[in-house]
Amino acid sequence: MTISLRCISCTKAYPAGEVRYLCDCGDLLDVWHDLEALRPLISRGLFDGRLGGAPGPRAVPTVNSGVWRYREIILPVNLDDIVSRSEGNTALYEHPQLAQFVGVDAFYAKHEGENPTGSFKDRGMTVGVTQAGLVSARAVACASTGNTSASLGAYAAMANLPALVFIPAGKIAAGKLAQALAYGAKTLQVEGDFDDAMRLVRQVANALNIYLLNSLNPFRLEGQKSIVFEILNGFRWLTPDWIVLPAGNLGNTAAFGKALYEAKQLGLIEKLPRLAAIQAEGANPFYQSFQNGFSERIEVRPETVASAIRIGRPVSYKRAVRALEWTNGLVEQVSDDEIMDAKAIVDRTGIGCEPASAASVAGTRKLVRQGVIQPHETVVSILTGNLLKDPDTTVAYHTGANQYANTPVKVEASFEAVRAAIEAVL
Ligand code: F0G
Repeated sequence: MTISLRCISCTKAYPAGEVRYLCDCGDLLDVWHDLEALRPLISRGLFDGRLGGAPGPRAVPTVNSGVWRYREIILPVNLDDIVSRSEGNTALYEHPQLAQFVGVDAFYAKHEGENPTGSFKDRGMTVGVTQAGLVSARAVACASTGNTSASLGAYAAMANLPALVFIPAGKIAAGKLAQALAYGAKTLQVEGDFDDAMRLVRQVANALNIYLLNSLNPFRLEGQKSIVFEILNGFRWLTPDWIVLPAGNLGNTAAFGKALYEAKQLGLIEKLPRLAAIQAEGANPFYQSFQNGFSERIEVRPETVASAIRIGRPVSYKRAVRALEWTNGLVEQVSDDEIMDAKAIVDRTGIGCEPASAASVAGTRKLVRQGVIQPHETVVSILTGNLLKDPDTTVAYHTGANQYANTPVKVEASFEAVRAAIEAVL
């Protein structure tokens, strides 16, 4: 099956094997699938039949990947060319305390922090690094608030490709920086914010002929579509009413919209869920643009405790606007306190997530309180990253005067002191 690159505005098409990230007109590109030709080849049964199976050798590389299970509608490719770490297959959690906190009975948390490097980025990266191989890239690069750099580092190492990552100095969580360094990515700590790092990596990629693996690259988004396919597959192709996700650079929002549009066009689902993209109040350019009916594209100087979404100039803006149009979606914002309190509840249920992820839970709660989401509706919220990514922020919350703080107790090293401490809490 052939695919091509296609401009989201003027629809000009380019070969899929051409290395380019923008149309000649300057706008963003899609990986374009011929849905008419695909329709007879794709069915619910095709994907259902690929579920399950114990981890196998590389000779059967697609069986255990929650991305490549959907390969016909992601990247039709020779199985031997795939660089995979069995991404996806992430759990869909239910917990009564979580349902009560957000205020809907049927509340599910899809935990993307269970991916190999601890975030949903692995789903995009397996496709991006596979494509890097197909175009014979000599090196790969990205700008990142942390998770993309961790994922790129790991997948580039698997593929034996040199990796360069540009991160905002001092502004990424400890776990993510540790990963990028450990996986061997050449790490440039840019004295600026993510938006500065993004601008620089784009210049470098063009000038030095290095393959860019930010979500500007449409192949990344094709992989991230699999989050939606997996949700739909898990719901036996009955759509939930809402999918709620944190929004920063807007790659995921864009990917989710495209996945849902394609699933509907291919007859996999009958109705579309509504997308709700949640931003942090201090990094809310998409929320502000939504408020003005997308008549003006807003940029901000971002600041939020959720460093993963500390972004003021989101790259996939136009693709994300289209996603909301397709799904009758909306944008909401939540404060840092709301994010951290929601995270404390997610953590306390034993599920756990990083701060940015909790924006989706805080956002669901807010939308329920506003009466936008009804208590009887089914909601899937995306936990985008693992609890261990950002230990400093978690410890700071629990050692501060916060609503759900689980304050550690300092005890003298004697049995009596320990007994008194235990009796005080039991
Ligand atoms: N949640 C987490 C944990 C993230 O790492 C990101 C983005 C988002 C949500 C937002 O997703 O950008 O698609 O809207 N992290 C990128 C990075 C920017 O560099 O790791 P988005």
